Amino acid sequence: QQTGPLRHFLQFRDFTKEEILYLFDRAKLIKDKFKRYEPHRPLHDRNLAMVFEKASTRTRVSFEAGMYQMGGSVIHLTTGDSQLGRSEPIEDTARVISRMVDLVMIRTFEQTRIERFAAHSRVPVINGLTNEFHPCQILADIFTFIEHQGPIQGKTVAWIGDANNMAYTWLQAAEILGFTLHVSAPKGYQLEAARIGQPSAQVLRQFDDPIEACRGAHLVTTDVWTSMGYEDENEARRKAFANWCVDAEMMAAADPAALFMHCLPAHRGEEVSADVIDGPQSVVWDEAENRMHVQKALMEFLLLGHL
Ligand code: CP
Ligand code: NVA
Repeated sequence: QQTGPLRHFLQFRDFTKEEILYLFDRAKLIKDKFKRYEPHRPLHDRNLAMVFEKASTRTRVSFEAGMYQMGGSVIHLTTGDSQLGRSEPIEDTARVISRMVDLVMIRTFEQTRIERFAAHSRVPVINGLTNEFHPCQILADIFTFIEHQGPIQGKTVAWIGDANNMAYTWLQAAEILGFTLHVSAPKGYQLEAARIGQPSAQVLRQFDDPIEACRGAHLVTTDVWTSMGYEDENEARRKAFANWCVDAEMMAAADPAALFMHCLPAHRGEEVSADVIDGPQSVVWDEAENRMHVQKALMEFLLLGHL
């Protein structure tokens, strides 16, 4: 199993700035080797268990392909095909799984659920998305930003739409890495004051008008109007978010070299227009691919520490 002290990645701020920047350096090295078809197998004989209590395409494929590429193997569990679906306590599941594998990734509902798992786990636990956070995605997004535009420190990121798990993770990243987050969400779907504390204007600025939020931004990013687990609110959300579609007018307010990102899956004509997501400023396919490279760096770090 693992050598150093037990670490988890349950939210972005579980890692320091130095650790995040180290992960980006490793991800670049790992990606370059992958592109050269050079083997990189530091996790030979290690096993990752993935627990999905919600659907996934990118998270599953990126962790699974990444672990095999590093010489390890994976076990894929879902609520429906495990005893989690028959009310086995998450603590018991953690105790059992973590005696058999080296690393666990979980996608679930409440953050408290992954925290309860981690508290009873003998091995590192990675958050593959909860209602509250999506830290692996933000690692990939910032790595992608750096690839295209250089360091993110001092830059401005505009978050347009639902103040969801992605938005709260962006906020943690802004605090740690030193950039400014602009957020524009409809009333009723904005960041909750109780959750964000009192970040300075260098870290967070909130806007009623999404075009104002985009002004001067170096990255414009959005996400689905209805996240997994909130499907009952779909109709109300479609009405509330009608003016929060990232379109050419919003991109025109941003920096001329601004990038567009979306963690995917996307709904063209809802949160983003087709001409933006399929246009020249969009880096969504690099962003999706980079999930795999940053998560390989993350798994390597959690199991082997600094190399
Ligand atoms: N972006 C993301 O996490 O995608 P999946 O839901 O397909 O894993
Ligand atoms: N906010 C979305 C992200 C999907 C990858 C959700 O939680 O469903």
